Amino acid sequence: MIAVRELTKLYGHTPALDRLSFEVRPGVVTGFLGPNGAGKSTTLRILLGLHRPTSGEALIGGRPYRRIRRPLHEVGAVLDADAAHPGRTARHHLDCLARTNGIGRARVAAVLAEVGLAAVADKRVGGFSLGMRQRLGIAGALLGDPGVIVLDEPVNGLDAAGIRWIRSTLRSLAAQGRTVLLSSHLMSEVALTADRVLILGRGRLLDEISVADLPVRGATLEDVYLRLTGEAAEFRAVPR
Ligand SMILES: Nc1ncnc2c1ncn2[C@@H]1O[C@H](COP(=O)(O)OP(=O)(O)O)[C@@H](O)[C@H]1O
Ligand SMILES: [Mg+2]
Repeated sequence: MIAVRELTKLYGHTPALDRLSFEVRPGVVTGFLGPNGAGKSTTLRILLGLHRPTSGEALIGGRPYRRIRRPLHEVGAVLDADAAHPGRTARHHLDCLARTNGIGRARVAAVLAEVGLAAVADKRVGGFSLGMRQRLGIAGALLGDPGVIVLDEPVNGLDAAGIRWIRSTLRSLAAQGRTVLLSSHLMSEVALTADRVLILGRGRLLDEISVADLPVRGATLEDVYLRLTGEAAEFRAVPR
């Protein structure tokens, strides 16, 4: 489980995150939705120990990332589709990752098959399409069979088949009981993929929505999202 508590991040005097708190539960896909600049990537980078918060905390299974002893076995993340060196083959990239984390080569072959890259495993990543690089990123995230999966804007730039693949993969990972958090600025994508949506604006949690409840509220996710983030945007437009 992921727990973010009173998380604040200042860049200079500008707050990217402003006492942000939320939890992400296992067994469902949680969407982290907000316009560009809302603070999604900042939150995920702090969660994964890549940035330090100004105050507050972000915990995975009750601990900050830097205190997790075998991180790849607890949390798999794709923050950037271009994390693999273009001169390496897909298999070599995963082998290196596996070796430094005490994971065997059989597991590398298994995740390559799982993400549909077995046939191109020995080709260089430099020749891969964005969709193939995203699949490779997800293969790396799955290497340690982690209970928590975090993806930052995974469908950016993907074609329809790639988007559908990501959607069904994330849904099946959640159905296996894992905690799945994906960020996106694309509301329609989140509505199709996530069960629960955290709406972020200006570094704050604006609302938390169960997608299944939306018809009851007589609204679409688009209605709710634009109302909430429209208010946040107006607030931002006030001259300083
Ligand atoms: N390294 C940085 N230095 C200064 N400002 C940053 C840095 N990273 C992000 N920001 C600012 O923090 C805010 C949130 O950015 P980000 O987390 O990337 O948003 P999102 O991922 O939701 O688009 C933005 O205003 C952005 O310009
Ligand atoms: Mg971002």
